[in-house]
Amino acid sequence: MSKIALKVENLVKKYSSVVALKGISFEIKKKELFALLGPNGAGKTTTIRIIAGLTNPTSGKIYLFGKSLYDNPIWSKSQIGIVPQHINLDMELTVEENLLIHGLLYKLSLSLIKKRISELLELADLKERKNSKIKELSGGLKRRVLIIRALMHKPKLLLLDEPTVGLDPHIRRKIWSFIKNIQANGTTILLTTHYMEEAEYLADRVAFIFSGEIKAINTPKDFIKQLGNYAVDVYLSDKLKTFYFKEKKEAEKELLKYSKNHFVSLRRVTLEDAFLKYVEKNL
Ligand SMILES: Nc1ncnc2c1ncn2[C@@H]1O[C@H](COP(=O)(O)OP(=O)(O)OP(=O)(O)O)[C@@H](O)[C@H]1O
Ligand SMILES: [Mg+2]
Repeated sequence: MSKIALKVENLVKKYSSVVALKGISFEIKKKELFALLGPNGAGKTTTIRIIAGLTNPTSGKIYLFGKSLYDNPIWSKSQIGIVPQHINLDMELTVEENLLIHGLLYKLSLSLIKKRISELLELADLKERKNSKIKELSGGLKRRVLIIRALMHKPKLLLLDEPTVGLDPHIRRKIWSFIKNIQANGTTILLTTHYMEEAEYLADRVAFIFSGEIKAINTPKDFIKQLGNYAVDVYLSDKLKTFYFKEKKEAEKELLKYSKNHFVSLRRVTLEDAFLKYVEKNL
């Protein structure tokens, strides 16, 4: 049995004059959480929409659990759940009604729909809000409904497009543990984000995507290790300069050197540091 859940080969997407994807390739292992991390307009949503079958690529191949997506479109849809970047729930309907409609669209039996709704409300800690209209829920709760809606038909691959965009840090962390929970239940996840700490916390592996090209793929740990363990920030009059060190002693030496005349700080290296290095390289 192959360990690969999703294989994307040389995906190109052109929108008339805009080339949104310039031939991207990556693989996601079963039960892995893989993140596409990139700035606005990098091509994250385009990638997700192509994999979900919502738009066709100009060229390229996609294999889901070893089968071509395009030779098995109906089966593929049953294996994939998508959480779009923009909340597209029916605002006038209740939480339960939104989930019910999704179940009917996927041709689940009424008894199975009822069972799934009750399991998922439990998982998302939304039991008390079952009869609330979507428009009455906070942004964080709406996001949670959006995620469990995508899980109604038990997809093996979940696509999460910016699942915490616009949420405050506390709610974002709640959604993070919810996502970890879903992964722990055996679901493979492809997530897009432009939040560095989100990718660092959630992802087993991360791809850096810039203007339709994947520039690097690695585990957050290895991205960080390439730079060092310790970062020294020096606040110069016109800019912030960061130095990286493997050894704490070396970092402390540098800190001391600058501390006489500048504000300085010592901290651990983060995925954001690694990402910024690639941004510099690609500007
Ligand atoms: N329907 C469309 N028609 C024309 N151009 C499009 C369309 N959808 C996306 N694009 C363009 O393709 C590129 C990639 O867009 P995409 O939405 O995939 O980026 P993204 O990484 O998801 O960005 P964001 O972080 O802002 O969500 C952008 O230049 C965008 O303007
Ligand atoms: Mg997007």
